[in-house]
Formats: sequence, structure tokens, C-alpha cells
Amino acid sequence: MDLDRIRKVAVLGGGVMGHGIAQVAAFSGFSTVIRDISREILDKAIQNLEKNLKRMVERNRITVEMAQETLKRISTSVDLAEAVRDADLIIEAIPENLEIKKEVWSEVSSIVGTDAICVTNTSSISITAISEAIINPQRFAGMHFFNPPAIMKLVEIIPGRDTSFDTIKTVEDIAKKMGKTPVIVKKDSPGFIVNRVLITYINESAKLLEGGSWKKEQIDASMQYKAKMPMGPFMLSDLIGLDIVYSILKVFEEGFGSYYKPATLIEKLVAEGKLGRKTGEGFYSYKENPTISEADAEGFDTKLLLRIFREEAEKLVAEEVADQASIDIAMKLGANLPYGPFEL
Ligand code: NAI
Repeated sequence: MDLDRIRKVAVLGGGVMGHGIAQVAAFSGFSTVIRDISREILDKAIQNLEKNLKRMVERNRITVEMAQETLKRISTSVDLAEAVRDADLIIEAIPENLEIKKEVWSEVSSIVGTDAICVTNTSSISITAISEAIINPQRFAGMHFFNPPAIMKLVEIIPGRDTSFDTIKTVEDIAKKMGKTPVIVKKDSPGFIVNRVLITYINESAKLLEGGSWKKEQIDASMQYKAKMPMGPFMLSDLIGLDIVYSILKVFEEGFGSYYKPATLIEKLVAEGKLGRKTGEGFYSYKENPTISEADAEGFDTKLLLRIFREEAEKLVAEEVADQASIDIAMKLGANLPYGPFEL
């Protein structure tokens, strides 16, 4: 499909991901409408967007004019039909729940033209399962942005059972126009590439911690200072949110078996409502900012965890989900790793 044909983008959901995706779409020149279920949420989405753009201007990443032009291209609506009616691309970023997603997509696909490109930003739900609610599922795919969408370069593109080659190509071109690096995931598999590897690594880290031979600060400091990752696995899970980590692991356990069962420690923290930074406590307490230093890294061998990256990546290749080069790119851009699992 000719990319020039895509003029108007509708983003469904103005939450954490939706407002950021709308920002990216509008910044790259698309007329963009955000749809959410209340005016208050939409007002908040616009406020967040304005804050992001202001920060980018302050850091000299964009000019004031660019920020103004971006905002001018964005509108909001609580009316689904009004938002999607003449949209050429619909990006869905509503809550991670199959029933809610299917309900919305069923309604959307009865309103939009049969050739409008439809994508979901789901992190863990099967693309094929969502596509069952859609008229003409050939034009439906996964377009998985990373948080925050304006900063993170990676977009995983995932075909469902019926997705056409043409749709994948168009979504790939759209991602490039948005300034992103698209990686095509060959198969609709739970967690796609980055979450499959990263969340499994977090789970294995928690299992190691349960073993009692090491302290969390020691493991985190080792992965940060010796393995040169942006942060260790426990600080990372507190940032992602332990409820999200847990629910993704449950999807893995169901799809791939008991190796992926959430570690008892993760299960316990979730049951206690200790979900990480957003609740003030997870593996760490955030009453004061937890700090770790290079000295904490003493005595832990990073190979114990680095091997998880490699093992999981090899499984992805064996399962024909992605090739080695795509996995390396995805892990570097989607998880900010200094090297891919195969470069390791
Ligand atoms: P969120 O909870 O921040 O935002 C969801 C928004 O959807 C809310 O504003 C809610 O009011 C709205 N909503 C609910 N029903 C709706 C409907 N029928 N129509 C339009 N809007 C509706 O959730 P978040 O974190 O933005 O996640 C959205 C999707 O993106 C999920 O599928 C999630 O798995 C995925 N995702 C999340 C990432 C993250 O780091 N938070 C990263 C990548 C993907």
C-alpha cells in the first residue's frame, strides 16, 4: 500500500502508551486523533503530551515550532465512531484484556473502511485471537511500541494468522516514517521477542534470589556494573511493575510450560500489593531512593544470568519466531542492552 494514502491516524486509548504513540504519530506528520472513554482522561493525555514536548524543546531535541505543529495535528474524542470513521490507520492501546480488545475492534471494524490498517499495541495477547473480532483480518497486525514511545526506537511488528504480506510491509513503512526501527517478528508467539527474553530473565533472577545465596543488591549491582546493563533485574521489575511481570509470566506458563511459572517471590510481592515503584514498594522500598554501588557487585558471577538471555534467544530461533540478527537488534533497542544475546 502507498504510504501517502495514510493521512489520518486514530489512537484508541490515551493512557501510558496511547498518548506517547499519538505524539509520535503527530510528530511524524499524521493528523492524529486520540480516543478514550472520558474527557478527563483525554485532557490528562494532552497535558502529558504537552509536558513531553516541552521537555524535548528544553533539551534542544526539537524546536518550539515543531512542538506547536505536533500539537496542532492532534485532536481528541470520546466518540469512537467519530474518531475512527475516516482514519487510515487505527492503533489500539487500550487495557491488556482480550475481551475488551475484541469488543472494541469488533465495533471499530464495522465502522472503518475495509482497507484501513488496524494494529494493536498488545504486549502479551495473541494477535490472531484479537483478529478474530475483525472484519477483514488481513489488514490487522501487532505493532508493539516500547515505553516511552517517543524515546524508544524499537517497534516489533507481528503478523496474526491472516495478516497479509502487504499489511506487514505497510506497517513497517509507517514505523520507519515514525522514525522507528521496525523488527519483524515471524510468528505470533507470547511475548514476541523482547518481553519473552527480558521477563524470563527477571523470573530466573527472582528464582536465584529465592535460593538465598545472593542478595538482591549484589545481583542488581553485578548486572549493572559488570554486565553493563542499564539496571539490574530487580530494579527493572520494580520499574515495569510486578503485576505486569506476573501476568506476562502467566501467559508464558500457559503457552510454554512450567519453566515460566512466576517465581514464588514475585507471586508473593504481587499478592501483598507490592508492585514496584508505582506502589512505593516492590523488591525495593521507594520511600527513599534505593542506591546500589559497584562494591555491592562483589561475588556474583553474571554468567549465571547472562546465559538466560542466550538460552531464551536460541529458543526463539528454534521456534522460528525471529532470526539471530533481529533478536540482537530488538534486545538492544527494546531493552537498552549494550549487546544482543548472540553478540554476547
Ligand atoms: P493504560 O491503562 O495506561 O491506558 C489504557 C487507556 O485505555 C486508559 O486511558 C483507558 O481509559 C483507555 N480505555 C479503556 N477502554 C477503552 C476503550 N474502549 N476505548 C478507548 N480507550 C479505552 O495502559 P497502557 O500501559 O497504555 O497499555 C495499553 C496497551 O499497551 C496494553 O495492551 C499494554 O499491554 C500495551 N503496552 C504497554 C506498555 C507499558 O509499558 N505500559 C508497553 C508496551 C505495550
